[in-house]
Amino acid sequence: MKIKQITSQDFHVLKAFYQDEDVMKYITGYVIDEDEMNERWEKIMSWDSHKGYGYFQFIENDSLIGVGCLKPFGKDVELGYMLNKAYWGQGYGSTICQLLLDKIDTMDVTKVVAYIDPLNEASSRILRKHGFTSMYKIDDEEFFEKKLRNRITGYTGLYGIVAYPIKHSFSPMMHNMAFELLGIDDVYLAFEVLDNQFEKYIESVKTLGIKGFNVSMPYKEKIINYLDEMTQEAQLCQSVNTVKNENGKLIGHISDGIGFVKACQSQGWDVQNQKVVILGAGGAAKAIIVALAGAHVSEIVVYNRSDKPFIKELAKQLSCSLTLKSLHCLDELKEDLKEAYLLIQTTSVGMTPYEEECLIPDSSYLSHQLKVADIIYHPKETKLLKMAKEKNLDYMNGEGMILYQGAVSFEFWTGKDMPIAGVKKALKMEDK
Ligand code: ATR
Repeated sequence: MKIKQITSQDFHVLKAFYQDEDVMKYITGYVIDEDEMNERWEKIMSWDSHKGYGYFQFIENDSLIGVGCLKPFGKDVELGYMLNKAYWGQGYGSTICQLLLDKIDTMDVTKVVAYIDPLNEASSRILRKHGFTSMYKIDDEEFFEKKLRNRITGYTGLYGIVAYPIKHSFSPMMHNMAFELLGIDDVYLAFEVLDNQFEKYIESVKTLGIKGFNVSMPYKEKIINYLDEMTQEAQLCQSVNTVKNENGKLIGHISDGIGFVKACQSQGWDVQNQKVVILGAGGAAKAIIVALAGAHVSEIVVYNRSDKPFIKELAKQLSCSLTLKSLHCLDELKEDLKEAYLLIQTTSVGMTPYEEECLIPDSSYLSHQLKVADIIYHPKETKLLKMAKEKNLDYMNGEGMILYQGAVSFEFWTGKDMPIAGVKKALKMEDK
């Protein structure tokens, strides 16, 4: 990329290019406080370009990719940049960030203050490598609210989730935040579609060029009839929660189980070659079983109150051992839990408003080596997790699975990693 240095006078050109009265704010980064910012600008504007500091245009093939600035402020230099919207999401932001840092390396400055979006993973990573620890001073919500309000254009692409009911879903917030953080020009909406309209919904996916969508209850199996291809995981589960539209070809995937395994990894849990006990044998359990097999666990024992013939069928197709036992055999469950690395609760038992219910009779079942996961996230701590906590065991609720299944879908559609830390922060999903 060619860098053209321009002087501070050219600032008005930039302003015209972006047709944004507020452009100064963005170029300088995200405001510390209005008065302080103005005071700094007064000074900087009066300095003109100085010792190689200044404003830069980043040009490639005659297109203005973005603008950046390195501004002296006493013995410090301030770094900021802004990307032409047409080039968002293509990795130019981090390239520009790196180019500006390379320039700083040649300067004699004691301190660098960077103003970028710290939730932008790529640039943050580069800046962290250069020793930046604190990169942000504006209130996130104010910034995102402002940007989201203004960002939809004729080019904006569409994703969504189809289900009934679905308006309560957490997914639109999660994916829109991820698009925003990565500067991807797409939006994600909730499509509440009745069963007799489902076929029309699929037609409209093709007509409108909806780029991808999640599928939730009650359509996770029904959707299979409309797909052109399915991933191996989706085939094994015979259930789909993620669809990619590749020029009219619909490809189905299932991200819940893989999301669960990723949530385990984010806890530092390594399930490889381990024995896992699962309570429940519904749709969620099936997706988790398939993903655990893919993550090379050695053995899965499923406890369910009723018989589930699909387990025997699935066992034939998986590389690990998979058996079904009755939830009524509590002695056997206790013995299995003595050897297990991980217990996963996948039923609705313990969910609000039945918070006092638990399939595990008492804490003597939870032996010292066990890690405990409950896929319920309302309440945040089920009776089972409270028991695990009292026994000082490592545990996790269902929030991680929600977040990471979203991340797996996001990657399936965009080929990009969801900026997990930023999404968590923005959606106020605290770590316990
Ligand atoms: P999901 O798709 O969320 O996994 P599901 O397919 O309805 O939901 O599965 C619910 C699971 O929870 C099933 O394994 C169910 O047991 P059955 O297969 O015997 O129906 C289990 N489950 C629900 N309520 C239960 C209860 N009160 N006691 C024990 N298991 C229960």
